[in-house]
Amino acid sequence: MSGKTAGGPATEAKELHDEVVRTNRDFYDRNPEVLAVFNEASDNRGFDAYLRGTLALCLRRIASAQKRPPRILDVGTGQGHLLGFLAEMAPDAEVAGLDVSPGNIARARSRFPNVRLELGDFVRDFEPEGTYDLITAYSVLHHVVDWPGFLDKAARCLAPGGVLYLDHDPLKGLPTNLYARLWRLKHRGDAQAARMEYHALLMGGLDHKAIRRHLGGRFEVEICFPTSACCRRSIN
Ligand SMILES: C[S@@+](CC[C@H](N)C(=O)[O-])C[C@H]1O[C@@H](n2cnc3c(N)ncnc32)[C@H](O)[C@@H]1O
Repeated sequence: MSGKTAGGPATEAKELHDEVVRTNRDFYDRNPEVLAVFNEASDNRGFDAYLRGTLALCLRRIASAQKRPPRILDVGTGQGHLLGFLAEMAPDAEVAGLDVSPGNIARARSRFPNVRLELGDFVRDFEPEGTYDLITAYSVLHHVVDWPGFLDKAARCLAPGGVLYLDHDPLKGLPTNLYARLWRLKHRGDAQAARMEYHALLMGGLDHKAIRRHLGGRFEVEICFPTSACCRRSIN
């Protein structure tokens, strides 16, 4: 990782964020099978049934506010794991996906040719055209060093009453060390994968309370399940 810089802690944090974005991009471009296996395992372990149920809940929450087809953005869409569910469960919705990995975006495009798919870092690059009713980020927030910037961007992109759904993140207080150990064992000897350990936010996991504090006032935050946060933007 980069050493001390003349710009101070803010510059260092920005550089670390950018470096982890590059590492994500390179890692997923080099290892496309990682997500293919993750997505398949999700189905086999019954996670997909849970995911469908939770997405149905999110869609119900935004339904009452709708006077037009809902607009949905899947951030860190990978190879489009959530896009298939969303397209099927909300056929009238305008669904879009975003990811930093060109390889993942290419795969998602080939699976979902009718979905708008964009390449870029949600925190630094993404400028919304209009607002979204639902933003989903499944197994993504713990890949992002500037997670407060991520939440701020989500708040900016959501319509009042819109829902932010975050899930499948290692959270502080859960056995994140075990998660980190498994990751290390699986990718032993791979320097790039080792750097991806930053994706677990230096093994500390994400902090519910910090997320709640950061969003407080702008969102009614519900921590629904052990690893998920479903946040509805306050209507003001
Ligand atoms: C563990 S994968 C999850 C992919 C997908 N959501 C799924 O459920 O299969 C994390 C994804 O987040 C993407 N990602 C990481 N940081 C990102 C950022 N700052 N902006 C957009 N995508 C990002 C990675 O490239 C990767 O595809």
